[in-house]
Amino acid sequence: MSETILVTGGSKGIGAAIVEQLARERDVGTFVTIARRSNEYGRFIERNTSLYPDKNFIPLYADIGNRDQLEFAMDELARRNIRVDTVVNNAGYTNPKSVNEINIDDFLYTLKTNLVAPFSIVQTLIKRGQPPRLVINIASTAGINGRPGWLTYSASKAGLINMTEVLREELKVYGTRVVCVSPGRCATDLRKTLAPDEDPATIMQPSDVARVISVLVSEVGHLIDSQNLVVRT
Ligand SMILES: NC(=O)c1ccc[n+]([C@@H]2O[C@H](COP(=O)([O-])OP(=O)(O)OC[C@H]3O[C@@H](n4cnc5c(N)ncnc54)[C@H](OP(=O)(O)O)[C@@H]3O)[C@@H](O)[C@H]2O)c1
Repeated sequence: MSETILVTGGSKGIGAAIVEQLARERDVGTFVTIARRSNEYGRFIERNTSLYPDKNFIPLYADIGNRDQLEFAMDELARRNIRVDTVVNNAGYTNPKSVNEINIDDFLYTLKTNLVAPFSIVQTLIKRGQPPRLVINIASTAGINGRPGWLTYSASKAGLINMTEVLREELKVYGTRVVCVSPGRCATDLRKTLAPDEDPATIMQPSDVARVISVLVSEVGHLIDSQNLVVRT
């Protein structure tokens, strides 16, 4: 039976590439994506709906750093009777600042978006009695080695890497596989925020990360035992 996948940040960048790759390659029947409402997101859903008429593309709209909005989106899944098989916690936010420039509210928002939201999504599904088969958390190599100027982002991703280890152990009882994927430099809008002067043509592309995710979602993916898979060129 074809499966249902939830991808946060599925409007552009790596998340959009994951949706496109899995639509092409895998037996996924329903794609639920979460991002904020935008023209780009609307066009992305329209394009995929017309390219793959036998698949369902269900866009949900939320700022996942906002607890009420995330809850509303998760309730929408229940209202529509959608059971999620695979979760890809991909949405991510960064606002690079030096230590003395960091605004505490922005730090908290970074943690809410990059760390607390992935937790809340998984916790909601578990509490609902619907543990997913697979959870993939997209962290970052910045979570392995902290980078100057990236304190809030690096700390949030380090937390996500560690949280994956805990979830991986705790969710075994449900038969849920939990994997962390840490990409290196990848040509997206987020990367532009971190490295505005870099030529995107010289670094890894979102489709490269998406190809790795596609393997993890496949049958052979079950054989990959890793807490933190680093993906980089
Ligand atoms: N690019 C890199 O070099 C790199 C390296 C390592 C890890 N990563 C990680 O890869 C993931 C994807 O990032 P990307 O590089 O593809 O960046 P991107 O092109 O900027 O895309 C980010 C995605 O996350 C969504 N998003 C961000 N904040 C959100 C929020 N508060 N609520 C809902 N959706 C939100 C965005 O949607 P809207 O803004 O449209 O709502 C968009 O779909 C992130 O977790 C990032 O940390 C990226």
